[in-house]
Amino acid sequence: MKKNLEIKRIETERLILREWTLDDVNDQVEGLGNFETAKNLITPFPYSADNSIGYIKHHLKNTTNNYAFAVELKENGKVIGGTNLFISSDENSGGIWINENYTGKGFGTELWIARAKFAFEELKLNDLQNGYFEFNNRSKHMQEKIGYKIIGNSIKFCPALNQEVKEILTRLTRTDFYSTLQSTKLKEIYDKIKILKSR
Ligand SMILES: CC(C)(COP(=O)(O)OP(=O)(O)OC[C@H]1O[C@@H](n2cnc3c(N)ncnc32)[C@H](O)[C@@H]1OP(=O)(O)O)[C@@H](O)C(=O)NCCC(=O)NCCS
Repeated sequence: MKKNLEIKRIETERLILREWTLDDVNDQVEGLGNFETAKNLITPFPYSADNSIGYIKHHLKNTTNNYAFAVELKENGKVIGGTNLFISSDENSGGIWINENYTGKGFGTELWIARAKFAFEELKLNDLQNGYFEFNNRSKHMQEKIGYKIIGNSIKFCPALNQEVKEILTRLTRTDFYSTLQSTKLKEIYDKIKILKSR
């Protein structure tokens, strides 16, 4: 698939979303190795340096249908999360995580809105598919807040829990997303997000 060399990075008020590098292994292992985070995801658990190196090597460069971003704190360069977006003819899927030690500070909201702005404004997608495990009230709340609607459910295997889990499937349409931006607080976050391109 064609490499997308154009998108340099995405900036929010406090975060930089950029391509992964092998220097990020320790931060990724710290984030995804945390059980409280991993129990909500389908990532390997325990999450080893080899898992991280494998993931990062596979995602070093974004392509036109497969994006993966490390989420770096502007203030000190620490990678505190990640997100990806995989575009296919069936669905536009992917996930989001924030290191448990940095949750509850609004970073997830900035990241979730940045991902949607990138998908709708830059990639011109019409919708995004997502989901959350039935007990993941934080993600449920977050998704409802930016306009995701429930479209069904499925079963996924969660390695951290070592069991199958019910997943609530969700979808965010362009229209629903832009409706939520009538909230001044969310619009302020949205307006500060910049998608920066290489010349
Ligand atoms: C979901 C996640 C990305 C949110 O990131 P975050 O940085 O904590 O997000 P924010 O600080 O912006 O917002 C958290 C929101 O959840 C709310 N919240 C926290 N705990 C909650 C709970 N138990 N039930 C419902 N809402 C909750 C907060 O009140 C806040 O909402 P508000 O901004 O409207 O007040 C992060 O918790 C995470 O990575 N979790 C583990 C992995 C995961 O679940 N990924 C998504 C898989 S679908």
